[in-house]
Amino acid sequence: MIVSNGGDEKAVAPSVPLKIAVFASGSGSNFQALAEAVRDGRINATLDLVVCDKPSAYVLERARSFQVETFTFSPKDYPSRQAYEEEIIANLQARGIELIVMAGYMRLVTEVLVEPYYGRMINIHPALLPAFPGMDGIGQAFEYGVKLTGATVHFVDGGKDTGPIIAQQAVEVRDQDTLETLGERIHQAEHELLPQVVGWIADGRVSLNGRIVTINN
Ligand code: GAR
Repeated sequence: MIVSNGGDEKAVAPSVPLKIAVFASGSGSNFQALAEAVRDGRINATLDLVVCDKPSAYVLERARSFQVETFTFSPKDYPSRQAYEEEIIANLQARGIELIVMAGYMRLVTEVLVEPYYGRMINIHPALLPAFPGMDGIGQAFEYGVKLTGATVHFVDGGKDTGPIIAQQAVEVRDQDTLETLGERIHQAEHELLPQVVGWIADGRVSLNGRIVTINN
């Protein structure tokens, strides 16, 4: 993976295949889409760890079915966000994780994670950022009455869905849509977009310069 940032070019030579950790808090349908793409050889990567902040999250079942190791924690057991992130970092480093994929991980991250992983940590959000960041991007867009919404994959910078945008997929809002039908099509778009972007990163095609992301051929 080659990442450049504002002229200060960082060349990160990953072991091949790329070692990935997925962070998730809920159902894990995006984890599943990624795990299937890795299993089917569509991405040159291995999924080495799932990090989860909810011991009852369904993503943990999915991880087990793909035989992916998990690190689960309860934030309330720690004095601060930094404290549990130190433990996460230790788990990532022990496995040589090169890319973090946040797929429904519903927590902001601090410099403990951002500093070592900037340019190597991405997030998927269910709206066309910078519109409707934060919780319930699908519901926010639906309530607002937009005609076009979608999914965004971006680098994580510690803000609330504010990092440089890598790729977006638009989803039209239809007159007859309910929140549920719109949500289904956005999730479908996410399940295509996320594996595609991770594949680009695994192939070393994504470069970052300031806020501008380029996908190289
Ligand atoms: C996804 O729609 C993802 O974009 C969203 O959580 C959902 C997780 O679904 N993330 C955010 O809203 C982050 N701001 P999943 O657990 O089935 O993958």
